[in-house]
Amino acid sequence: MSESRDVAVIVGSLRKGSFNRMIANTLAELASERLRLEIVEIRDLPLYDQDLESTPPAPWVDFRNRIKRAHALLFITPEYNRSMPGALKNALDVGSRPYGKSAWDGKPGGVVSSSPGAIGAFGANHHLRQSLVFLNVPAMQQPEAYIGNVANLFDAEGNLIHEATRDLLTTFIRSFEHWVGIHARR
Ligand code: FNR
Repeated sequence: MSESRDVAVIVGSLRKGSFNRMIANTLAELASERLRLEIVEIRDLPLYDQDLESTPPAPWVDFRNRIKRAHALLFITPEYNRSMPGALKNALDVGSRPYGKSAWDGKPGGVVSSSPGAIGAFGANHHLRQSLVFLNVPAMQQPEAYIGNVANLFDAEGNLIHEATRDLLTTFIRSFEHWVGIHARR
């Protein structure tokens, strides 16, 4: 892959001190110049309501257009009650409509999940993958990235201080670059 690709990064947490956002920032630093990672914010998306489709809210329109411009998608999410956070599911729903015009359609994706717990948000990771199947987002299968014990991996400034995790994320983003090169449409 020689040309540079635009990757829309969706972080499933809205929290200022989010560990998942720290992971997103770390991946942006680790990516080569062939991938441009940019976080697309989901905080201000009104809750999906089908009745609003006749005059969709401006944040929906902007979000859909931003996702359509991206070559690829990277989802980095915590787990809420063994699934993905509602804010992330809402963003998936907003991007998926109007019917037949989904912004997600056909864009290659990657999934990283993390938790202060041991299981690394496995449940959220796989519930998200279930939706991505329906949204026709080919999600990279390997390497998987379930990052456990995340509260001990960063310093107070959000810098990654755990070398094994840096190695894992480096392998992940190199593989993702390859995945995008194979599956991106343009
Ligand atoms: C959580 N948390 C959590 N963790 C987990 O491993 N499995 C779970 O099912 C849940 N459930 C859950 C529900 C709700 C409503 C909250 C607020 C939290 C803990 C969660 O992993 C932790 O708060 C992370 O730090 C959230 O990620 P960010 O915000 O640091 O990116």
